Amino acid sequence: MGKLKLGIIGLGTVGCGVVKTLRNFSDQVEIVRIAVHNLNKKRNIDNLDESILTDNPFEIVDDKDVDIVVEVMGGVNPAFQLLKKAIENGKHIVTANKELLAKHGEELFQAAKEKNVVILYEAAVAGGIPIIMPIKTILRSNKITKVKGILNGTTNYILTKMDEDCASYEKVLKEAQELGYAETDPTGDVEGFDAAYKIVTLATIAFGKRIKIDNTYREGITKISAKDIQRANELGYKIKLIASAELNSDNVADVRVHPMLVPKEHVLAKINNVTNAVMLSGEPVGEIMFTGPGAGEFPTASSVVGDILALCAEVKRTAYPLPMMRCNHSETAESLSIDETTNRYYIMLNTIDTPGAIGVIGTICGKHNINLSDILQKGSQGGKAEVVIITGLCNEGNIKDALDEMKKSNVIEEVKSLIRVMN
Ligand code: NDP
Ligand code: HSE
Repeated sequence: MGKLKLGIIGLGTVGCGVVKTLRNFSDQVEIVRIAVHNLNKKRNIDNLDESILTDNPFEIVDDKDVDIVVEVMGGVNPAFQLLKKAIENGKHIVTANKELLAKHGEELFQAAKEKNVVILYEAAVAGGIPIIMPIKTILRSNKITKVKGILNGTTNYILTKMDEDCASYEKVLKEAQELGYAETDPTGDVEGFDAAYKIVTLATIAFGKRIKIDNTYREGITKISAKDIQRANELGYKIKLIASAELNSDNVADVRVHPMLVPKEHVLAKINNVTNAVMLSGEPVGEIMFTGPGAGEFPTASSVVGDILALCAEVKRTAYPLPMMRCNHSETAESLSIDETTNRYYIMLNTIDTPGAIGVIGTICGKHNINLSDILQKGSQGGKAEVVIITGLCNEGNIKDALDEMKKSNVIEEVKSLIRVMN
């Protein structure tokens, strides 16, 4: 059996890790071409054969010798056009591109089915943590109804440091950028886009129904203040950016990314710095958790190379490689909008320090069927008070109506924060 021939598109953080790791498997695979954007850039790889580099990635997808296209370039364009062309040309695909899968997975998997090629994407959900292959293989007997986790290392690092150093979001973000943990334009991470792409793919395979990115609620961490973290601690919680997906008894999906107060004793409250974690609830397995590095050169290369080796074991040996790893659903899940959900809430209010202020808050909550479980006020200053409440389970629509009414009252000056609370 000859070696499989790889064309790699992208030689950045992940691409370099893949090339270095593949050196241990030179008996099974041969890298025939690597596409980069800038041919003059110095690469952090010893003895790289520069004659295989090209700045035209279409040469790779059109190369008749290439069996597997490894896409570690990122972004939607031209990655989407490249992978469509590669599939059309009968090539198997390994990709780490979560944005592309979340936005165009459906078209790519349909095209792959028609061409009898396989798309593998273990690195696209939680970097080095194996999660796609376990769900598709050893957990196959399960009906998975709940997935939740910490899927973005940058935001988890920022929230951990804000907690440890009692520091503001802006200060910690700047430090994270200086240390290379956060990108110069951090929007994709801090506004929750990265975690949303990941939970869309994860929920799609866990539920066996397609989840649309447009039906996924997303909120980042930019509004979280050092004060919120301090008050959450006093009330027994840590604040984490949680990506979650749940299928209710009517098979309607609730998929979202937003910050949450997580009880300190919950395992997700203890996942710190850049570490990621995924929890699954399935029948018959119960609740299980995967944790580890969600990003980085070698952890991500571990997943990409694992996918490549899985293909090596089957391509050219069978006419239908890796049947369990293929996309086997076409139905789109019905989705719940965030306004239809039920949650607990942490709310920080700035009020005027006057008799009856707490009474006004309680009356408005009562009117909207909102039960209070905690209330915290620590003195007052200059005629103003900060009041924090935690509600029982209530409808998101009711909370919005109550907050609108509070904003109009003459004792509540500002609704400073609204963060959902994990049970
Ligand atoms: P980088 O920005 O480090 O690397 C991107 C690479 O793609 C660079 O080598 C760049 O070339 C090349 N490239 C960009 N545009 C083109 C083009 N038009 N033609 C040819 N080559 C091109 O990205 P990462 O390695 O960090 O990420 C790659 C993918 O992996 C993304 O989809 C990302 O979301 C995903 N991922 C990344 C993780 C990580 O830890 N970094 C973790 C999990 C997934 P040049 O070097 O010449 O500029
Ligand atoms: N930007 C991502 C993170 C890593 O911070 O977790 C790539 O998936």
